[in-house]
Amino acid sequence: MLVATYDRTGPANEVLRVTEFPTPTPGPNEVRVRLAWSGVNPSDVKTRAGSRTRVLPFPQIVPHSDGSGTIDAVGPNISSARIGERVWIWNGAWGRAHGTAAQYIVLPANQAVQLPENIDLAAGACLGIPALTAYHAVGMNGGVQGKSVLIAGGAGAVGHYAIQFAKIMGARRILSTISSDRKAALAKAAGADVAINYKNEDVAARVQAETAGQGVERIIEVDFGANVALDQQVLKRDGDIVVYGSTALEIALPFVPMLIKNIQLRFFIVYNLTEHDRTRAIEELTALLKGNRLQHNVAERVSLNDIVKAHEMVEQGRVVGNVLVQIP
Ligand SMILES: NC(=O)c1ccc[n+]([C@@H]2O[C@H](COP(=O)([O-])OP(=O)(O)OC[C@H]3O[C@@H](n4cnc5c(N)ncnc54)[C@H](OP(=O)(O)O)[C@@H]3O)[C@@H](O)[C@H]2O)c1
Repeated sequence: MLVATYDRTGPANEVLRVTEFPTPTPGPNEVRVRLAWSGVNPSDVKTRAGSRTRVLPFPQIVPHSDGSGTIDAVGPNISSARIGERVWIWNGAWGRAHGTAAQYIVLPANQAVQLPENIDLAAGACLGIPALTAYHAVGMNGGVQGKSVLIAGGAGAVGHYAIQFAKIMGARRILSTISSDRKAALAKAAGADVAINYKNEDVAARVQAETAGQGVERIIEVDFGANVALDQQVLKRDGDIVVYGSTALEIALPFVPMLIKNIQLRFFIVYNLTEHDRTRAIEELTALLKGNRLQHNVAERVSLNDIVKAHEMVEQGRVVGNVLVQIP
């Protein structure tokens, strides 16, 4: 089978190559998926670049955790009725050497989730990281029913789903930061009441004006290092900040202002959701997909041979939405 792979960290054009690997066979409790699409996320790009650690967890890596396709073989203990099922994948490359940038992936059967008939396979490759991250960020810690929420970076892959989930879960008012008119339109179409251009507006003043001077009750944060001072300023007392991203790897906190406001900080990584939280998120997501309640934003579709280009697009942050690799 064809795969994209790397055996050392570094720039995409130096370390990624497309080659042949033996086609894997599913073992007990596993399924094999013939992949159609492989989703590229910032995390895949950072791991390949070596920006977190230069030491690879496996000698040879097939990247990407997200993907979609059709089950074509099952191992012992798995019903053959699953053969032919259209599925989306989570954690394909988390703690595993072999991700979705390949014609086939073998993985535990529960990591291949049935995709409702009405959802196309390309959208299925956006769910594992962007949609599940957004769902958990919005739904955790009592959710957002009746609350005002600030979603930083509402046109991003995660942010765009987060706005939709906040709307669905009954947020009273949804504010979002963006950096262009095009991104503002995307955030509003997803359900944001207010889009604030953080590059040329006074975000703190706008948030206060839009919330009658109260501030927001939850912030869903894409870059905590960049926004920590703003967040503590615009968060209402007893509010929480759900942090899923940060460019800075070490962050100084304004201790006293955060203390006085009783601010709660919540960090999480989608790869390590508890079984309970993941099951709940997948069930709810499936119901929303069946009801056609979600917009998906596939921005770029790139062939497997152009995987370097796909990584560079994500790395440079030029793309508004998800980047997918089409599997031949
Ligand atoms: N914890 C987890 O489980 C988890 C899961 C998924 C992603 N992440 C992380 O979350 C980050 C975003 O992922 P993604 O896939 O959504 O990326 P993405 O599609 O590139 O979206 C990021 C968005 O954030 C905006 N942005 C950047 N800096 C900002 C700032 N200071 N204030 C407000 N908005 C800002 C960007 O727009 P502009 O550049 O135009 O501002 C862009 O719209 C990455 O660092 C990723 O590694 C973490």
